Amino acid sequence: MQWIFIVNYLSLHPGVGGDNLAFSDDFIYQLQLANPIDDVMKSYVNLIRRGRNFVCSCPFHSEKTPSCTIYLDTQSFYCFGCGAGGDVITFIRKIENLDYVEAIKLLAERAGLEVPSDKQGEQNARIKARILEINREAAAFFYKSLISDPSKSGLKYFASRGLAPQTIKKYGLGYADDSWDKLTKHLLSLKFKEDELVTAGVCLHKNGKTFDLFRNRAMFPIMDLRGNIIGFGGRILGDGTPKYLNTADTPVFKKSRNLFSLNFAKNSTSNRLILAEGYMDVIAINQAGFDNVVATLGTALTPEQARLISQYAKEVIIAYDSDGAGQKATTKAINLLSAVAVTTRIINMKGSKDPDEYIRKFGAARFKLLLDNSDGAINFELEKCKEGLDLSTDIGKVECLKRIVKVLSQIHNTLERDVYISKVARSYEVSAEVLKSQVENEISKTIRKEKKNSWKSIVTKPRFKDEINPEVSQYPRESKAEEGIIAYLLQHPDMVKRVLDCITPDHFVTSFNKRIFTVLCEKLNSSTNFTLSLLSDEFSDNEMGRITGIEAKHKDIFLTEQVVDDYIKILHDFKNNKLSDNINSDEDLLKLAKRLKNIK
Ligand code: UTP
Ligand code: MN
Repeated sequence: MQWIFIVNYLSLHPGVGGDNLAFSDDFIYQLQLANPIDDVMKSYVNLIRRGRNFVCSCPFHSEKTPSCTIYLDTQSFYCFGCGAGGDVITFIRKIENLDYVEAIKLLAERAGLEVPSDKQGEQNARIKARILEINREAAAFFYKSLISDPSKSGLKYFASRGLAPQTIKKYGLGYADDSWDKLTKHLLSLKFKEDELVTAGVCLHKNGKTFDLFRNRAMFPIMDLRGNIIGFGGRILGDGTPKYLNTADTPVFKKSRNLFSLNFAKNSTSNRLILAEGYMDVIAINQAGFDNVVATLGTALTPEQARLISQYAKEVIIAYDSDGAGQKATTKAINLLSAVAVTTRIINMKGSKDPDEYIRKFGAARFKLLLDNSDGAINFELEKCKEGLDLSTDIGKVECLKRIVKVLSQIHNTLERDVYISKVARSYEVSAEVLKSQVENEISKTIRKEKKNSWKSIVTKPRFKDEINPEVSQYPRESKAEEGIIAYLLQHPDMVKRVLDCITPDHFVTSFNKRIFTVLCEKLNSSTNFTLSLLSDEFSDNEMGRITGIEAKHKDIFLTEQVVDDYIKILHDFKNNKLSDNINSDEDLLKLAKRLKNIK
C-alpha cells in the first residue's frame, strides 16, 4: 500500500527527472544501506531463498524457471537469461521506467531519507509541465476543429463508427484537418517555442521548417492516470498509411508503460479488466457500458504493462481481434499476465473480427454474455491444439495430444494440472496415467532446455551483436582478461592500489571495459565505503547489467593474485605487440630491439 503511494507520489510530481545531478557518494551509500535489494525487489517479484542468495523469475523477460539471482553480499541482481542486472537503483530505474534521479528520489522516499536539492530536476519538471500544457492546448484545438470544421469530416467519421456525442466528449476525441501547419501556428501564437513543440511530439522539424505531425486524422488523446494528456493516436480518415500514427516517446510519454483508457478503468468497481487491441475497441466497449477496458498503444503487451495491470486487477479478459495475429498476441498476453499472477479469460467472438464490430452487430447485452462465458486461458490453448487436424483419424488425434501435452506441461499448479489432465483424458479417451507421465516428461525436458538456453545466451549473446561492448569479438582474449581484472577489483576493493601499480586504464583494449576500470578505480580510491550503487550514475541500466554480469560470472571462480597477474600480463603483452607493429622508422626499430633484449 505504502509502496503504491510512493509511486503515485512520484507521478504526481513528475518533475523530478534529470540525469546529471551529482549526489555525494556518502548519500548514495546511505541510500543503498537503507534499501536492501531483496527488500525492494520483493515488492515486485516472488523471491525464493537459494543458499546465501535469492532467486526469482526475471521481471524483465518472460520465463518459466527462475534465472535471476539476487546477491546479498554485493547487493546486486543478475539475470542469466536476459542479461539484466545491476544494483538497487538500476532495478528501480528499469522496473519503474524512471531516470536516475527519479529512481533515487523514489528510494529516498521509501526509506524516509531527505534528498539533496536538485537544480536539474527542477529544469526537467519545467519541460514536462510545458509538454503537458502543449498537449492540452493541442487536444482542445483538435476538439474545436472536430466541431467547427465546415466539412464535418471528423464528426462524420465518428458517427459512422457509432459513437455518441457523450462518448466523443468523454474521450476528448478530435480532428486534425489536412493543413500542414494550422496547429503549429496556433501553438506558436500561444507563445510556445518551436523546439518545445517538437519535444512534445505534436510537430516535426525538417529542412528548417516546423509543421504538424497529425494531418487528416481522427484524433485520440492518450491520458495518464490523473487525466493529463500525455500523447495522441491519430487514425487516418479514409485509406493511407500508417493507419494509426502515435506520438513517439517523449519525456512525459512511454508507450510501453501506458495503457489507453486506464484513467477511466482504474475507477471501475469491477475487479477484472478487459484488454482490447485498439482505440476504437476500447471506446466501443466503454460506450456499451463496460468501463473496465484498456488497450495497449499500438504495440504488443509489454512486461511493464502487465505489471501495471496487476496493480488494478486480479483477472483479465482478453478481447483481441479474432484473426491470426490477434490469437498469437493472446497467447503472449496470457504468458506475460500469468508471470505477474494475473489470471486470464479469453472471449471468442465467432463471426466478428473485433469487439467493436461484435458490439455493433449484436449489441451490448450479447457482449456481456460473451464476457460471462469467456473461457479460461487453458481451455483456449487446448482448443487451439485442434487447429488444422482431423480428429476422426488416429494420426490427427495423436498429433493433437502431442500439442496438448505441451500446453498441459505449462500449468504450474500441480492440482490444476491434474484437473485438466483428467478432463483431457476423458474427452480423448486415453489413460490419465499415461497422459500424466507424458506431461511430466515434457516438464523435465523444458527445464533442461531452459537451463541450457540460459547458458547459451550468456555465451553467444556477446559474440553475436554486442551493443554494449562491441569490441569483445575482436579482442576475445584481452576482453576476458579485462573482465577478470574488473571482477577481481569488485571482489577485493582493497586491492586497488596493488592493481594500479601494475596496470593503468591505458592498458585496457576495449573502450567499454576501460571506462569501467577508470570509474571503478576512481570510486575505489575516493570513497571509504564502496558499493556498486556508486557506479550507477555513470552507467545506463544496460551497462549496469553488463557490469553485474561480469561480477556474477566470476562469483564461483576463485580469483587469486596469480590469476590476476596473468590477466595483467595479457594486457601488457598486447600493448607491447601493438607497439612493435608500429615500426615506422629506424628509431622505432632500435627501441624495439632494445626492449626485446631487456625482456631476454
Ligand atoms: P487494427 O488494425 O486492428 O485497428 O489495429 P482497429 O483498432 O481495428 O482500427 P479501426 O477499427 O480500423 O479504426 C489495432 C490497434 O493497433 C494499433 C492501434 O492502436 C490500433 O487501434 N495500430 C494499428 C497502430 O498503432 N498503427 C497501425 O498502423 C495500425
Ligand atoms: Mn476495428
